[in-house]
Amino acid sequence: MQNKVKKAIIPVAGLGTRFLPATKAIPKEMLPVVDKPVVQYLVEEAVASGIETIIFVINQKKHPIQDHFSRDRDFEASLRRNKKHALLGKIQKIHKLAEFIYVCQDEPLGSGDAIMRARGLVGNEPFGVFYADDIVHSKKPALGQLIKEYERCRGSVLGLFNVPKSEVNKYGIAKCNREGSDPARLQVEKLVEKPEPKNAPSQLASVGRFVLTPEIFPKIAKTKKTKGEVYLADAIDALAREGRVYGHELEGTWYDCGSKAGFLRANLAFALEHPELKEEARRILKEMQNGKA
Ligand code: UTP
Repeated sequence: MQNKVKKAIIPVAGLGTRFLPATKAIPKEMLPVVDKPVVQYLVEEAVASGIETIIFVINQKKHPIQDHFSRDRDFEASLRRNKKHALLGKIQKIHKLAEFIYVCQDEPLGSGDAIMRARGLVGNEPFGVFYADDIVHSKKPALGQLIKEYERCRGSVLGLFNVPKSEVNKYGIAKCNREGSDPARLQVEKLVEKPEPKNAPSQLASVGRFVLTPEIFPKIAKTKKTKGEVYLADAIDALAREGRVYGHELEGTWYDCGSKAGFLRANLAFALEHPELKEEARRILKEMQNGKA
């Protein structure tokens, strides 16, 4: 097996029902957090983590994602004519970020099924996986943190965040063993999907960042459907029960942009850091707190 993690899969063929009606015609991954679509944050994180090839699993409605990462010469020429050089730089940068490959998932048969579509493209190499819902804001790119852990343990690695006990029933929760004296080293025993707080094995939620080894594919192939879908989490759970999955508590702030509240929080947080917007964003927030807006 090749040991370097150079490819990442971003499955974007889900229905995005939680953002309807906004996502009737626009992919949820293209909704902007301030001035960039969510999916561009993920691609930039992947590139900062050393990824060279991004494999998008798309469906017929996701062509705006393909358009976003393709070169648009007419648009570039018009920005050049109008001497909008700063904007031209921003636009030109996007298609150069990585090599982009697209595979199709015709029916939304689940996240596990989506990953399986890219099997031939990743071959016998470990690979990164991003769920398009989750932005992790960190000085150290989140996938890069997981790749470092992969290089130590040579198994699949899940990105974990500690969540309040009252929220464990929204996520896949990892039952972990601490490995040795380093509290950051975790072996995942199993993944429990959306447990009731009283039954939760921990408060460590699996977020949409993974490094997976090709060992996952036979597990996906054997995973039974739940509500008509093959869940990647079920295949990871099967691998974990064989002692082949590790966890890593991510450094940084996690925004669950798949939920309306998380999406709003991400927009506020990024606005407060945006060079052109931060003063205005602070002023607006203050006015709102004072009941003026
Ligand atoms: P989600 O569970 O967030 O589902 O999928 P969703 O359909 O995107 O969103 P909601 O819940 O209806 O609002 C996790 C990731 O797996 C992809 C999604 O696009 C998302 O990035 N996915 C899910 C697929 O590519 N195919 C599927 O069949 C299901």
